[in-house]
Amino acid sequence: MNTLIATIAAYLLGSISFAVVMSHAFGLSDPRTYGSKNPGATNVLRSGSKKAAIATLIGDAAKGWLAVWLAMRYGYDYGLDDTGIALVAIAVFIGHLWPVFFRFVGGKGVATALGVLLGINPWLGLATLATWMIIAYAFRYSSLASLVAAVFAPLYYGMLFGVDAILVAVIVMSALLVWRHTGNIGNLIAGKESKLGSKSAGAG
Ligand code: G3P
Repeated sequence: MNTLIATIAAYLLGSISFAVVMSHAFGLSDPRTYGSKNPGATNVLRSGSKKAAIATLIGDAAKGWLAVWLAMRYGYDYGLDDTGIALVAIAVFIGHLWPVFFRFVGGKGVATALGVLLGINPWLGLATLATWMIIAYAFRYSSLASLVAAVFAPLYYGMLFGVDAILVAVIVMSALLVWRHTGNIGNLIAGKESKLGSKSAGAG
């Protein structure tokens, strides 16, 4: 029962779209109406407001971190096991992708996945963030950096902690993240993906 309550609470927390909330707070257009139309930090950056983009990144990451941190810190006392933690991790991520508060139109999950990984273990999150930064710095594509980081995250988890239920959650999260980037992958292959800092989005 507590696992179900924690999973639903995590889903609801994940459903808060900080791209929409922060854009509203900063007096910007709804990110679902311009650029890639994705409610995420990269697209909010296309509005020209770095502050709103950073606030979105922090908010979306914080909700992933908070859900998992709370579950790992207090969940075991209330009967959650590793499978329960894994469900909480997936639920907060799914809330971001399909938010109940925003007609189930959510983002691609990059910042929230980062928060989840930091919540599971800071070194896991930092290694994945470092991977994102290296690829983003080298190639200037946010989406490519996210895709490469998504591939490496389960590998890092496996190396640090071995095979368990939480690894399954990390794999599911990475798979969903890659799937949400289908359009970006097409744009990257076609050479039409927009670079970081560019105000336009890739084609399609
Ligand atoms: O954060 C999502 C990023 O990987 C791609 O975003 O807006 O360029 O599709 P976007």
